[in-house]
Amino acid sequence: MISDKMQKELNEQIALEGYASYLYLSMASWCRSQGLEGCSRFLHRQSEEERMHMLKIFFYLDEVNGRAVAPGIKQPPQEFESVRSLFEQVYAHEQKVTASINKLVTKSLKEDDHSTYNFLQWYVEEQREEESLMRTILDKIRLIGDGPQSLYYIDKELEVINAQAAQAEGEAA
Ligand code: FEO
Repeated sequence: MISDKMQKELNEQIALEGYASYLYLSMASWCRSQGLEGCSRFLHRQSEEERMHMLKIFFYLDEVNGRAVAPGIKQPPQEFESVRSLFEQVYAHEQKVTASINKLVTKSLKEDDHSTYNFLQWYVEEQREEESLMRTILDKIRLIGDGPQSLYYIDKELEVINAQAAQAEGEAA
């Protein structure tokens, strides 16, 4: 059995993960409109991952006799200044998610809710990986530059990351 307070907090996390999914979907569409196919594919995958993060909490709440709430859809931004600014926003959002997960971990310990504490460890690891990946992408953008002549090379780098992720998925299957 989960406390009402923890259930409420986990539902807020559901909303945050759900918003990330829609934000990245919107970003994927913007990249596609700029001809950045690699970036678009990358963001579509991230959007799917965020949906999975959201659903994982849904199933957890079911398992502990809680009640998951489907969040309302908040309209994400549709226009972005540049590919660099877009990935800066992705990184900022991931940092926000990490801070939220860390707060949940602290609260689960305060409540002696070891089941939720244990469940959240997966997210702690996932956030470390996601922040690291986004920093790598931003570093590459800074190295390559993001003027009009550089966009092709940035997109190529994202395709390399897509290929690595596809290979990792194939190996995990
Ligand atoms: Fe599920 Fe990337 O936060």
